[in-house]
Amino acid sequence: MNKQREMAPNSFLNLAVSSFCLQLLALVLPYQAFGSSRSQINEFNAPPPGLCASAVIIHGYKCQEFDVKTDDGYILSLQRIPEGRTGGGGGGLNKPPVLLQHGVLVDGMTWLLNSPEQSLAMILADNGFDVWISNTRGTKFSRRHVNLDPSNPKYWNWSWDDLVLYDLPSVTEFVFRRTGQKMHYVGHSMGTLMALASFAEGKQVDKIRSAALLSPVAYLSHMTTALGVVAARSFVGEISTVFGLAEFYPKGKEVSKFLKSLCAFPGLDCYDMLTALTGKNCCLNVSTVEIFLKNEPQSTATKNLVHLAQTVRDGILSKYDYGNANFNVEHYGEAKPPVYDLRKIPHDFPLFLSYGGQDALSDTRDVATLLDILKLHDVDKLHVQFIKNFAHADFIMGVTAKDTVYNQIVAFFKNLG
Ligand SMILES: *[C@@H]1O[C@H](CO)[C@@H](O)[C@H](O)[C@H]1NC(C)=O
Ligand SMILES: *[C@@H]1O[C@H](CO)[C@@H](O)[C@H](O)[C@H]1NC(C)=O
Repeated sequence: MNKQREMAPNSFLNLAVSSFCLQLLALVLPYQAFGSSRSQINEFNAPPPGLCASAVIIHGYKCQEFDVKTDDGYILSLQRIPEGRTGGGGGGLNKPPVLLQHGVLVDGMTWLLNSPEQSLAMILADNGFDVWISNTRGTKFSRRHVNLDPSNPKYWNWSWDDLVLYDLPSVTEFVFRRTGQKMHYVGHSMGTLMALASFAEGKQVDKIRSAALLSPVAYLSHMTTALGVVAARSFVGEISTVFGLAEFYPKGKEVSKFLKSLCAFPGLDCYDMLTALTGKNCCLNVSTVEIFLKNEPQSTATKNLVHLAQTVRDGILSKYDYGNANFNVEHYGEAKPPVYDLRKIPHDFPLFLSYGGQDALSDTRDVATLLDILKLHDVDKLHVQFIKNFAHADFIMGVTAKDTVYNQIVAFFKNLG
């Protein structure tokens, strides 16, 4: 991990980096205050005021909140921005729906952090799309279940397999029924994994008409973030002994201790936390980063992180590995977890992939593996964009993302009608 912050072209990057250092302090110090504010979330059944009120309506857009129940009983919060700020944005009566799916350790707020002119959700609404924002189980506004409380470890018994199996289908079904139309999809990070794994199994392609995948993660064996690599190794080994089946709450005591121990590894520089985790982002706004830090990182299931860590370790994309042949046989009828075969993604399914040269999670070599697997895809159905100076967070928070990426996504969707 090199320390070349002083060479950063943007002065606000330094500020952004120092806020991340403060954040790291918050992570590694035992933190009473967070503990108490969090137990409130557990106590009340009704969610706190949602994303519409805090991040959309304040900018002059209409916004509706919905609850969606999954087949395994989780209650997810879903937002809709039905039209552009001035009421129009073109697109006529039947505006094409677009579903936005965030990544791991964050929620739907991820799409609403910059000004309306810079945020993908609002840009899509202003361009005539009917925008839907999903929030996966366990995140701030989706910590609900028909009979499990988040304080119950069973609430956290899931990995991204279950997001593929339950969350995504429930949300697409809901949007499909409400709008009567197939939707476009935008995923970032784990949101790309959810889509690719679904498409590989022939799921969702009847409701999703195209997908834009930002910072695609399907293969993670070249992940260059040192913290990520060490964390991944530890996760695979330590799940049962340290965390068990539980909530991974990034601002809680146990996780702080865990991170502190990781950062003590020789050669691991946790001083520059943002870079340590995501790569050298080129284009972040310090005010946006502050808003981001107020909301994130958010909880996920430890089992989910273990599953992601298995992907790093194994270099193949498969279902959750229960750790020994007997347990796997019990769950899958096979000694090894079944593989998601991305070659089975329908070759005529419209895909837009955008990846960055500085992204430490979605490494260019892993994207190359993905692109190699997609080499039989119809040439005119696969749009690939490489942005040399972008890292992981630039795709959702970058002040230049509109010009470099979002305008291209809008054009890609509009071309499909
Ligand atoms: C967790 O879920 C799996 C199925 O996905 C089930 O086999 C297992 O018994 C569950 N564990 C607990 C503790 O509920
Ligand atoms: C950064 O964010 C602030 C607050 O939203 C805004 O006033 C400023 O114009 C933004 N800077 C850039 C370069 O977009």
